[in-house]
Formats: sequence, structure tokens, C-alpha cells
Amino acid sequence: MIDPEIFLKFLKSRRSIRNFQEKPISDKEIDMILEAGRWAPSANNRQPWKFIVIKNKEILKAISKIARYGKFIEQSPVVIAIVGKKKVSSKWYLQDTSLVSMNMMLMAWSLNIGTCWIGNLNREKAKEILKVSKDDFLLTILPFGYIKGEIPQPTNRKDLDKIKREIV
Ligand SMILES: Cc1cc2nc3c(=O)[nH]c(=O)nc-3n(C[C@H](O)[C@H](O)[C@H](O)COP(=O)(O)O)c2cc1C
Repeated sequence: MIDPEIFLKFLKSRRSIRNFQEKPISDKEIDMILEAGRWAPSANNRQPWKFIVIKNKEILKAISKIARYGKFIEQSPVVIAIVGKKKVSSKWYLQDTSLVSMNMMLMAWSLNIGTCWIGNLNREKAKEILKVSKDDFLLTILPFGYIKGEIPQPTNRKDLDKIKREIV
């Protein structure tokens, strides 16, 4: 098992990255990221997900146009779309795919690869572009790339005493 102090330091060090180098990411690293996603927990172990790996520049350009706060997607050498299969787990696909995304983001960080959750996205248009079935939910698309420039300063977190309540 990993040293907990080191693990916490690692978790705290992760930042959303919005500036990427053009340098491609190797298939081995992409596979590591996918593998981390694949090992996420899911309700009843239903694994209600599909992953789409996109490297095509035209597609990335088209998606960046419909992501209000994600114009930087275009710079990314590879994007992974995380799709929730509602029919496989209609109650838990959101939770399950969110866990996938966190696993992928952390694996990327361990590889010195940056990423950022894209929330503000015209999902219906993105689904059309990516040929995702109408029945499925496009959780997010994660752009991955080697970090360009400085790693951003740590973002704030609410103090623990403000968010914690104990019942003893
Ligand atoms: C559900 C969700 C949606 C987000 N959507 C966007 C987005 O559309 N564009 C963006 O630049 N960042 C987006 N972010 C990244 C957050 O802004 C970022 O995680 C937050 O400011 C904390 O910074 P950190 O990730 O560096 O710790 C999103 C994050 C989450 C969890």
C-alpha cells in the first residue's frame, strides 16, 4: 500500500490544467489512464461506462467550440470522453462514471500529465459529434496533455472545521 502521507500530498498537489504542450501522449500512458478508470468502483459492480479516446484534431476543434470554459481542449493531444450507460445502471451511472473520472485524473497526474474536468459543454451536440447514443449520458470529456508553463497555484479549500460535524 502507498504511504498515506505521500498519498495525501499527492492528492493535494493535483491541479486542473488548462494549458497543454503539443507533445503526444504515448499509448502506454493512455492505457494506464484508461486502466485506472476501468478499476473504479461501481454500484453492484455494473461498470456502466464506455470510454472514447479522441485524437482527431478536427473533432477536438469542434468540441472545444461547444465547451464554454473549455476552449483549451483544442490544444490537447488526446481527450477521453466518459460515457455513462443509463440502461446498465439507471440509478448509479452518474456516481459510477464520476469515480471513473477521478481515477483517470489522478493516474494522469501521477504520470505528470494534466487534465481538467469539462462541465460546461453542450452535451447533446458533443454526443452527436462523438456518435454517442441518445440513451447514454456524456459525463465529461477530459483533455489530457503535458503541462505547458507553470503548474497553477493551489486552489482554496474550505477549512475542515467549517465543513465537518461530528456525531459521537
Ligand atoms: C463537475 C466539474 C465541472 C468543471 N467544469 C469545468 C469547466 O467547464 N471548465 C474548466 O476550466 N474547469 C472546470 N472544472 C474544474 C474546476 O474549476 C476545478 O476543479 C476547481 O476550480 C478546483 O481547482 P483544482 O482542480 O485545480 O483543485 C470543473 C470541475 C468539476 C469537478
